[in-house]
Amino acid sequence: MAVVPWSQVRTLESTIGKEQRLHPHSRGIFSDLMRRIGVASKVVVANVKRAALLNRSIGMAGPRTSEPLQMHLVANDIMKSALVWMPSVAGLVSRDENGVVQLPEKLRAADQYIVFYASIDGRSNLDANGSVATIFSIYRCISGYSTAMREDFLQAPYKQAAAGYILYGSSTMFVLTTGHGVHGFTLDPEIGEYVLSHENILIPDKVKCFSANTMHTPRWDEPSRAFGALLSLGKEPRYAKTTSRYIGSLVADFHRNLLYGGVFMYPTNQATGEDKLRLKFECGPLAMIIEQAGGLATTGRERILDIRPTDMHQTVPLVTGPRREIELYEKMVRDHDVASGKRRPSLPPPAAE
Ligand code: F6P
Repeated sequence: MAVVPWSQVRTLESTIGKEQRLHPHSRGIFSDLMRRIGVASKVVVANVKRAALLNRSIGMAGPRTSEPLQMHLVANDIMKSALVWMPSVAGLVSRDENGVVQLPEKLRAADQYIVFYASIDGRSNLDANGSVATIFSIYRCISGYSTAMREDFLQAPYKQAAAGYILYGSSTMFVLTTGHGVHGFTLDPEIGEYVLSHENILIPDKVKCFSANTMHTPRWDEPSRAFGALLSLGKEPRYAKTTSRYIGSLVADFHRNLLYGGVFMYPTNQATGEDKLRLKFECGPLAMIIEQAGGLATTGRERILDIRPTDMHQTVPLVTGPRREIELYEKMVRDHDVASGKRRPSLPPPAAE
């Protein structure tokens, strides 16, 4: 592999600067926000990597000391203290807290943003040294008030100005989209910089991996079961080499499928009527990333990006992957709904004059 001379190495910092120059009137406020998330993630990863040494209860295994420090709460505090004072942050919502984070009295920037974050997603994997991630999603403040209003927080995910995740795996990777493609930056621990390692990520048009908690299959609806069987039984030539891969850490599963080509699904539990993944913290940001990478994300009946939230912690079903498979899944759901009388067949397009 050719070694890139230092003068040509691109970092998260230089890419943010480059994107800023695409907007001649930019005041750099958005870029500052991105930089701050990058710095906060380095503090999170430093803690995640040392957690076991510090005898912290790092995931779900429960307290080990009289004052247990759960890693997701540590990470939540790191993210919060990095963002709460920023003049551009008009609203901050953490998956680990009810309601919105109380912001201090502070200067207000000319451009105001709403930030959603899940500080440690997939934390049940932490005690077993598995990969976890921070996910973030950024919206513009649309209400025009100095304090963010309900309408700012309940914007549909297609309004996201940016979305990304930082995956704490065998290496630490910052994956970002601002609506101009998806780029991946790997943290070089020697220099402490995120270096552009995956420029313009596009999901391959193949299904190398199928990722779902298949123990739940009996509780999926019929089209989801049929779709899962289609992919996993491998009778179709396109799925002959598809293999099952599921960590149970959303970003780790998603990221692998994004790079290798694969489908992730977490359908509704029909026994309880419940969904697991949250629209604003998990499904929305990943949907923006996958669409920017050429794939799709759906509930089966609605594009994830189009869902108008009624609640900030709302959960939804998620099926995401290459465009071809997601369109196929939506068709299977549509056909099932029509056959069971839940939906009227769509009318054929009008005949040409
Ligand atoms: O939402 C939290 C989460 O840990 C995701 O990261 C992951 O995809 C999912 O839950 C795993 O759920 P389950 O254990 O039900 O398969």
